[in-house]
Amino acid sequence: MKKGFKIIGIGLLIIIALLGLGATYINSNDLPSYEVQTIDFQADINPESVARGKKIVSMLCASCHMNREKGNLTGTQMLDAPSEFGVIYSQNITNDKTHGIGDWTDSEILYLLRTGIKRDGKYSPPYMAKLPHMADDDINAIISFLRSDDPLVAADPIPDQPSQPSFLTKILCQVVMKPFPMPTEKIAMPDTTNVIELGEYLAHNLDCFSCHSADFKTNDFLNPEKSPGYFGGGNKPLNFEGKIVLTPNLTPDRETGIGKMTEEQFIRAVRYGLKSGEASLQYPMLPYPALTDLEASAIFKYLKTIPPIKNKVERVVYD
Ligand code: HEC
Ligand code: HEC
Repeated sequence: MKKGFKIIGIGLLIIIALLGLGATYINSNDLPSYEVQTIDFQADINPESVARGKKIVSMLCASCHMNREKGNLTGTQMLDAPSEFGVIYSQNITNDKTHGIGDWTDSEILYLLRTGIKRDGKYSPPYMAKLPHMADDDINAIISFLRSDDPLVAADPIPDQPSQPSFLTKILCQVVMKPFPMPTEKIAMPDTTNVIELGEYLAHNLDCFSCHSADFKTNDFLNPEKSPGYFGGGNKPLNFEGKIVLTPNLTPDRETGIGKMTEEQFIRAVRYGLKSGEASLQYPMLPYPALTDLEASAIFKYLKTIPPIKNKVERVVYD
C-alpha cells in the first residue's frame, strides 16, 4: 500500500517536472515556426480592385492596424485584446520597405492572410486576422490596395513595436491553434443575389463572429459556425481604459438576442453605432459606414437563420 503511494508520488513528480520543462521550452521558444511554401501569385491590380480593397481594409484591417495619431496603418498597441494574451502591438503594414511591408512579395502577403504564417515562417498570433474562406477576388483586392499610394498605406517609416505574447498565447499557438492549409481550389465570391449566402460570407470574413462568440480562445476560424457560443455573445474585449465591454448576443433568441430587433435598428447599429434611446455603441465595436444597407441587411437576415442561444448579456455603458 505504502509502496503504491510512493510510486504514484514519484510518477507525479516526474509529470510535474515534465510539465515544467515543457513550460520553459515553450516560453523560451516564443511562437512556433513553420515551413513557408513558395507560391506563385501576382496581384491583378486595377482601379476596381484597389477601390474594393480599400473598402475591405477599412472595415477589417484598419480596426487593428490603425495608428490613431498618424491616421495610417503604421500599427498600434491593441488595447482591446484581453490582457491574458499579453501586450500586443499590430504592425506597420504601409509600403515602407524597412518597417512596413513594402518589400514583401504579393505571394508572401497572400500566404500570411490565408495560412497565418509570416514570410520568416513565424506563426502570426491568434489576434491577427486569418482569412481561409475569403474569396480570391477579395484577397486580390486587399493586396491591390496595400500596394497603392493611398494615404492609409503610403510608405511611412515608423518602426514596429514587438509584441510580448503571454505564456497562454504561446501555449495556444503551440498546441491548439495551427496554421491553415493554403486553399487548393479557387474560392468564388458569394452570390450577391442570395442574401443569406452574402450575409454569412460577411459575418465570417469581416470577423463579426470572432468578437460576438463566446471567447477569442475557442473561436474556430476554419469552421466559424462551430465556434463555441457562435454569435451568442459574452466575449470580453476591452475598451481604451482596459475595461471589459461584453459583446452582445446576436443570435435570433427573442429574449436575449436580436429576435426583437428590427432590420432598421440593426442596420443603424452596425453602420453608425447608433441605438435608439440608448448610448451609442462603444469601442471596440466600431461603426461600419462602408457597408451598404444591402450588406448590413444581409448579415441581419443570415443571423436570423442561425440557432438561437439563450445567453443574457448585460450591457454596461461607461461614460
Ligand atoms: C484583430 C486584429 C487584427 C486584424 C483584424 C488584422 N491584423 Fe494584421 N496583425 C495584427 C497583429 C497584432 C499583428 C502583429 C503580430 C505579431 O506580433 O507578430 C499583425 C501582423 C500583420 C502583418 C505582418 C507584418 C509584419 O511586418 O510582420 C501583416 C502583413 C498584416 N498584419 C496584415 C493585415 C491585413 C492585410 C489585415 C486585413 C485583412 C489585417 N492584418 C487584419 C492584428 C490584426
Ligand atoms: C472587436 C470586436 C467586435 C467586432 C469585430 C464586431 N463587434 Fe459588434 N459589438 C462589439 C461590442 C463590444 C458591442 C457592444 C458595444 C456596447 O455595448 O456599447 C457590439 C455591439 C454590436 C451590435 C449591437 C447589438 C445590440 O443588441 O445593441 C450589433 C448589431 C453588432 N455589434 C454587430 C456586429 C457586426 C454585424 C459585426 C461585423 C460586421 C460586428 N458587430 C463586429 C464587438 C465587436
